[in-house]
Amino acid sequence: MKYLQIPVGPMENLSYLLWDEGTGSAAVIDPAWQPELIEEKLKTPNINLDLILLTHAHPDHINACSYFLEKYTNLKILMHKEEEFLLEKPFDRTEYLRDGQEIKLGDEKLTVLHTPGHTPGSVCYLWKNLLFTGDTLFLGCCGRVDLPGSDPEAMRQSLLRISRLSENIELLPGHAYNGFKTTIKAQKPANICFKYLNDKEDFYRVVV
Ligand SMILES: [Fe+2]
Repeated sequence: MKYLQIPVGPMENLSYLLWDEGTGSAAVIDPAWQPELIEEKLKTPNINLDLILLTHAHPDHINACSYFLEKYTNLKILMHKEEEFLLEKPFDRTEYLRDGQEIKLGDEKLTVLHTPGHTPGSVCYLWKNLLFTGDTLFLGCCGRVDLPGSDPEAMRQSLLRISRLSENIELLPGHAYNGFKTTIKAQKPANICFKYLNDKEDFYRVVV
């Protein structure tokens, strides 16, 4: 599988295009702001957009979903059910994800990690040694936990879970705050949210 990181919009958002080279099956993670720019990347020979994968449903991560749903009539949206309260109305052709679920993309498989905290239905997508983290984790910090549906303790537990994954995993965030990509190994000493993970009071002081 190949992927492209696509910076979009005024808030340093990062959309991602993933595709299985064998079958041409493609997915966009968090399509937002500049659908034409994302679509331009779909012109890579022989790839077909089959899935939209949402890390969560804040507007800056989903505001191009309607564009793709209207244009690609076989396209499905995959998201966690607990994000639906953030939508004015549910998207058409939505399937809901659960923790540990495997998503088929052509001959490839991604695994869903339910990582609440920033929002109740935030998820990360793991493919081999790549983790697409949405607003759960950025370089040097984690997502805000003072928003509707946020939960600092849930965020602490989600980050603890990520910190226990292989240290070689590359982290691909939903915003390019402080940079575009890193590893769990690099973030353990460098990310203030990781630093205080084992102390609730310090963690809450840092993140809230
Ligand atoms: Fe967000």
